[in-house]
Formats: sequence, C-alpha cells, structure tokens
Amino acid sequence: MVERKNNSMLRERERTLQSRTQRLFSRVFESLEVKSVIRIFSSDVCPGSAVKPIMEPKLYRLCPEVRGMTSLDREAFTQTITVPALRVPTAVLNKVVKSLKKCSIQRPGVPRVVQDQEESSQFRLVLLDPHRVTAASSFSEAEAEALRSFSVSDELHRYELRLTYDNLKSEEVLEAVLPQGQDVTSGFSRVGHIAHMNLRDHQLTYKNLIGQVIMDKNPGVTCVVNKTNTIDSTYRNFKMEVLAGEENMVAKVKENGVVYEFDFSRVYWNPRLSTEHQRVVQLTKRGDTVFDVFAGVGPFAIPAARGGAKVRANDLNPESYRWLQHNCKLNKVEGQVRSFNLDGRAFIRGPLKQELPALLKGDANAGVHVVMNLPALAVDFLDAFRGLLHGEPPSDHDLPTVHCYGFSKDDVPSTDVVARASRSLGFALENRCNVHFVRNVAPNKDMLCVRFTLPKEVLYCSDEQTASSEEPAPKRQKCEETT
Ligand SMILES: C[S@@+](CC[C@H](N)C(=O)[O-])C[C@H]1O[C@@H](n2cnc3c(N)ncnc32)[C@H](O)[C@@H]1O
Repeated sequence: MVERKNNSMLRERERTLQSRTQRLFSRVFESLEVKSVIRIFSSDVCPGSAVKPIMEPKLYRLCPEVRGMTSLDREAFTQTITVPALRVPTAVLNKVVKSLKKCSIQRPGVPRVVQDQEESSQFRLVLLDPHRVTAASSFSEAEAEALRSFSVSDELHRYELRLTYDNLKSEEVLEAVLPQGQDVTSGFSRVGHIAHMNLRDHQLTYKNLIGQVIMDKNPGVTCVVNKTNTIDSTYRNFKMEVLAGEENMVAKVKENGVVYEFDFSRVYWNPRLSTEHQRVVQLTKRGDTVFDVFAGVGPFAIPAARGGAKVRANDLNPESYRWLQHNCKLNKVEGQVRSFNLDGRAFIRGPLKQELPALLKGDANAGVHVVMNLPALAVDFLDAFRGLLHGEPPSDHDLPTVHCYGFSKDDVPSTDVVARASRSLGFALENRCNVHFVRNVAPNKDMLCVRFTLPKEVLYCSDEQTASSEEPAPKRQKCEETT
C-alpha cells in the first residue's frame, strides 16, 4: 500500500519534472530556432553555392530610423528590398508557382507573381523567398526537376520589392522599434474585441505603440489593454489600462457554444479555462443539481443548465452576479438557474444547506454537484461542510460530488492540494478523491481540481463549533494568479 503510494508520488514528481523540463526545452529551442535563422542568413557566402548570395539577409531590414519610436509612424517602415525571382513563361506559370510553393515569397499582402518589365505579355516574375533561395543550387531536387520539365531557366533575377508596414508581422515591427537585444514577445490573450497583454517593465515606454501594432495586425481587436501581473482583489479581476483603441470593456465571447457578455474590467474571465469548464459540465447530467459557489459570469452554471441540470449559482462580486443573471437570460436558462450574491461560506451554509436534505431524499439518479473554482482560497471554504446536516445520511442516494480547485507550488502538487483539502474538511481524502491537473499558471505553479464525494463523516458530523453559520471566514491568504 505504502509502496504503491510512493510509486505514484514518484510518477507524479517525474511527470511534473518532465513537464517543467519540456517547457524549459521548448523555450530554449524556440530561441535557438530564431537565432539559427538569423545566423544562417547573415552569412555572406552560402557554403556549397556556386555564386555569392544576392539577397538581403532578412526579408525586413532593421532600419535605425524606427528604433526607439514611441508613437507609431507607419510610413517610416516602408523600405525596398531585393529578392530573387525567376522569369517564367505565362503558359506554365500556374504549374511552376505550384511546384515552387515552398520557396516562393509567402507574406500577407506581398504578391508572389509580378509583371516582368521587359516582356510583359509572355513572362512573369515569380518572387522567391531570399531565406530559401540564394543561388540556383538552392532549389531542391524536386524544384529543379520541375523547372527543367517546364523548360524554365533557373537563372536568378533581382526584383526590387517595396515592403510597407502592412506587410510586416507584429514581431518584426516590435523588433525594429524596441531596443536591440530586448525581448519583443508580444503575446496576448483575446477576450472578444479586447486583447489583453502583460507587458514587461522594459516594454512600458512603448506600450501605446505596442497596443496599436497589436490592434493593426489582429483583425477584430478594437481595444488593447495592459494588465498587471497579479490579481490580488477579492473579485479576481485585473487592473488594466487601455493602450490603444476604444475604451469599451464590455466583451462578448463564445465558449463551448455558449455566449457570454460581461464588463471585462470588473469581473473574472479567463479564456484558458474553456476545456476545464467543459470537462466538469460533462460530469453533470440532466436532472442533477449543481451548486456553483464561485460562479463568476456563469461558465459552469450556464452550460450545466443548458444540459438539463438545475443550477444554484453564487458570486460575491455584485458585477459578476449582474452579468451572471444577464447571461442566463441571454442563453434562455433563467428558469433553471437561481443566482445569489453571497459570500461562498454563506451560500454553502444558507441556500445549499436548505436544499440539500430534500435533494438527498429525492430521485436517487439525480446527482448533486458542488463546484468551487476559486483556486487561491477554495480549499479553505471546505470546512463550511462540516456538520452541515443533521440526522441520518441517506442510504440510497449518493452524497454530493465536490469539484474543488487549488493552486500549488509544491513538487508534488496533487499531494499538497489533497492534504490541504483534507485538513480543511477534517477528513483524510487520500485515496478517496480524483485529482485533475488543469493547467500551469506560472513557472512552478499549477492549478488542480480535486473531485471527491463529500464524506458522510463530514456532512453529518456533530462538530457544533464548525457547524455554526456565524463562524467567521478563514483568514485570507494573499492570492496571486497569472493567466
Ligand atoms: C477564479 S473566479 C472563477 C469564476 C468562474 N467560476 C470561472 O470559472 O470563470 C472566482 C470567482 O469567485 C468570486 N469570489 C471571490 N471571493 C468570493 C467569496 N468569498 N464568495 C463568493 N465568491 C467569491 C470572484 O468574484 C470570482 O468571480
């Protein structure tokens, strides 16, 4: 028994280490990839090729004029570069373009085929990627064979290509602007029309330019905000600053086929939880009752109601509560969802406690679920179940299934979260629960979901002290969350 537990702990430690090592490697590999591209194309002579390369080392030449720019001047990015080209008879043009797909220019807004100045009627120029083709010997066997079969000369011509801001990727613009050698990663999450970023200190000087670039390069984004790295507010929403675009924070998103609307600056929403919402909702069935203690704007509650469950959804944030009600109407489930604006503990000791006895006496096939997604604190709320009910536990009805979320920075996160949940419940959950890894929220910080059947020893214990509804909430920890 002990050995089995040790083995499973070892396996989990291995899994954690493996996933951390993989993440580290993929980051190193990504940066190596970028460096290798730069190295390859900055060499003056291409080894093995008969002629000297005729091209710019990179498609977009970094120009000093835009370096350090803080207010976006799109015109300043216009430049002319020289790219290789093949003269191709119009009669075989389509076939040749198809055969050279891998080495021709692939850029949004940049033509792959242009007029040939000299003999415009019979020939066209097929523009090639200077990263791939520096000389005739750069063509692969198959490409060279295709050229021969269509009687197209492999002689390379130079073409002066005008590149504008519109042809550049956001990373290229930012690499050109931000101080050399600094990280230009411009990752963002998208919530409806809002792109939210998490800029590093060195990027803050350029924040408005970065926002504008992100908006320009991502159709549908009309507002870019920067958020602070941590959320320490009770309501789990971020402080944010508009960097570019309209100041409209009311977003509309679709998750797993359900539409939600909410003020992103005042409620919690995380687009990375959609799989988790779906996973838990799939564990509920028609006729079940779901108590969502920290419901937010409804991403568990509404789909569960749409699947035929009766839902009691609660959130302490009055704004979340308002949008939750709005979303119930929007998705036509207001008849199946009763919403509450209470502290989680008061919700468990109030509405949940009142309804539970009748549910446990009712249809034995109708399950009861309690969802607790407030990972920084939810385990501390588990003691609210101690001594919640009196009398005899039902013999023919399953006790409620709890889905409780927790963060862990421990080497063995599942052991850590289960131990904390057990302490809060006053009952050992080890070997009586299922732990699901949700996601890695920050380096060395995981989010997990512990699922267990509420033990009768907890629900029906005669611990009068903990059973009191007057009991103060446990001391708040400082919550941190990165998305
Ligand atoms: C991490 S969010 C999860 C929201 C939603 N369930 C989801 O998956 O997107 C936690 C929610 O708990 C609410 N909350 C924070 N403290 C609370 C408390 N003491 N009682 C009830 N709700 C609380 C916040 O307002 C927030 O909406």
